[in-house]
Amino acid sequence: MTTTPPVLQVRDLRVDIGDRTVLESVSVDIQPGSMTVLMGANGSGKSTFGMALAGHPRYQVAAGSALLDGKELLELSAHERARAGFFLSFQSPPDIPGVKNNLFIRTALNAVRESRGEEPLDAFDFLASAKAGAKELGLPATMLNRPVNDGFSGGERKRNELLQLTLLQPRVALLDEIDSGLDVDGVRYVVELVQRMRAQGTAFIVVSHYLQMIESLQPDTVLRLDAGRIAETGGLELARSIAKTGFTRTTA
Ligand SMILES: Nc1ncnc2c1ncn2[C@@H]1O[C@H](COP(=O)(O)OP(=O)(O)OP(=O)(O)O)[C@@H](O)[C@H]1O
Ligand SMILES: [Mg+2]
Repeated sequence: MTTTPPVLQVRDLRVDIGDRTVLESVSVDIQPGSMTVLMGANGSGKSTFGMALAGHPRYQVAAGSALLDGKELLELSAHERARAGFFLSFQSPPDIPGVKNNLFIRTALNAVRESRGEEPLDAFDFLASAKAGAKELGLPATMLNRPVNDGFSGGERKRNELLQLTLLQPRVALLDEIDSGLDVDGVRYVVELVQRMRAQGTAFIVVSHYLQMIESLQPDTVLRLDAGRIAETGGLELARSIAKTGFTRTTA
């Protein structure tokens, strides 16, 4: 058992969408630099968990708490949660027509830097690091000049999420099905990037349905969400058993 305090401590989180309760009571501890894989059947509430932590207004938090470095995330607005160090990569990254990608990412990055007490990056320095990041990710630099995700392919959208992740250097990153839509090179890049960022202290929660991806990530913990709660906690053996027998087995 570790004695390090968790970077993220979620307690009895209940989330409603409209008049339906999707998450009944979810409690999770995330250690700095750790890798947690979140599994669960389609519609079990994995994306709801991410959206609620990120502060999407449609996902109403009815009860519970989520402390990031001891600070209550759920009382903050979405942009304050990002500044506090929470990052969500969307399952379906939306377009933002009319907003240039490089300006969008630079504005986000400088807001995060400000909250860390760092100097803002000017356009020149930002562009140099954004171009280097894009190149590493296999994203053409011209995509930085286009509106956010406008006309991007599915895989390009996921790569653009990863570009934001590398530049923002969050405390906790929740990657919601980052592997869906990515080609083999993209998946390999995710695994390398995640290991590199973990070594620097970023904790990851990764939602995935694919055992090969989950095995490559070498998770410390695998969680199974069911009926609005964490129904099972384990290691890779849990992911392997789900891959073998599916989600329809009866819960212990
Ligand atoms: N805006 C919404 N309005 C109504 N119901 C919603 C809305 N968003 C999500 N839901 C419902 O909440 C439940 C949980 O959805 P969620 O997207 O969190 O599932 P998930 O575990 O991420 O599934 P998947 O593996 O398919 O991505 C689903 O039944 C879904 O239909
Ligand atoms: Mg989902």
